[in-house]
Amino acid sequence: MLLLAIESSCDETAAAVVRDGRTVLSSVVASQIAVHAEYGGVVPEIASRRHLEAVVPVVEQALHQAGVWFSDLGGVAATQGPGLAGALLVGLSTAKALAFANRLPLVGINHIEGHLFASFLERPVEFPFLALVVSGGHSHLYRVDGFGRYRTLGQTIDDAAGEAFDKVAKLLGFSYPGGALIDRLAVDGDPAAVKFPRPLLHDGSCNFSFSGLKTAVLTHLQKFPLSGPDDPRLPDLCASFQAAVCDVLVAKTSAALMGSGCNRLVVAGGVACNSALRREMGCLADERGIELHIPTPALCADNAAMLAVPADYYLEHGMESGLGLDALAVWPLDSITAHLAAR
Ligand code: KG4
Ligand code: ZN
Repeated sequence: MLLLAIESSCDETAAAVVRDGRTVLSSVVASQIAVHAEYGGVVPEIASRRHLEAVVPVVEQALHQAGVWFSDLGGVAATQGPGLAGALLVGLSTAKALAFANRLPLVGINHIEGHLFASFLERPVEFPFLALVVSGGHSHLYRVDGFGRYRTLGQTIDDAAGEAFDKVAKLLGFSYPGGALIDRLAVDGDPAAVKFPRPLLHDGSCNFSFSGLKTAVLTHLQKFPLSGPDDPRLPDLCASFQAAVCDVLVAKTSAALMGSGCNRLVVAGGVACNSALRREMGCLADERGIELHIPTPALCADNAAMLAVPADYYLEHGMESGLGLDALAVWPLDSITAHLAAR
């Protein structure tokens, strides 16, 4: 079955055509990052307007690149939530209109559920597996027992990991979102140069907290101000902050692996692009003898192809959403099972 998937939950308008929830025929992503950079973060109203401008050309480009037309499709999928309500509505309304006009089944997908299954587009993962989803809005550990069967084992009690990267990047004078730049500068830095805290490391839970770490960076900068973008201490600072985030993510993932009994691990979301995190998760997997799946960076970051994996499963199993579905700005993954039953 060929699916068209549309993603518009935050600041990327994306569309993809995927065969059988496995083979990506096209994946187009139009990023608004440059527009929001001057405001230091995503401006919801601007995001909605940009999605409106981009969504039709992006869908057309995805179909064109895949060499297909609506008559070739077996269904349409769209991100239903969580995300910015106005932004979600653009992709979802487009998907509804296309499904209605072309008499295609429609399925609404949870954005985080998409991230969970992005690695299936490279190599299928057997159930059950443990998943760490680290993005601009999420830092969650889930046990995944099947499509629609998710249990939250831990989550951030304040900032998400990507949010912490972006806020620290802002303190360092980088433009939004600065996570990737911290990663690049950290390559030449000493991760042991500054001893930043490892929040909640020994609290016995699988939860995270990153807001204190951001404050620790701020306090450090107030005590030892940088002279500018060429200050030689900048790479050390980036590497030390990144090491603190990675240490906590790896330690909590390790604890969750132990607690859940899973021997397969998926790491997903934009922060899974981070080179230190990828390396350290590789070491953890080697030490524990577990199977590790981290998608290529293009599939870690927001895209529409990832939605097609669960969408294909749901449609193949007769679970359509219907045209009445609403955008859900807040939509915890655990509640999906009930939602599916209602589909
Ligand atoms: O999943 P994603 O593309 O969008 C959301 O759903 O939030 O994640 C975006 C987040 C941003 O906070 C961005 O700074 C972070 O992922 N990010 C990184 C890296 N690349 C993207 N953080 C650390 N290192 C990176 N290389
Ligand atoms: Zn995302």
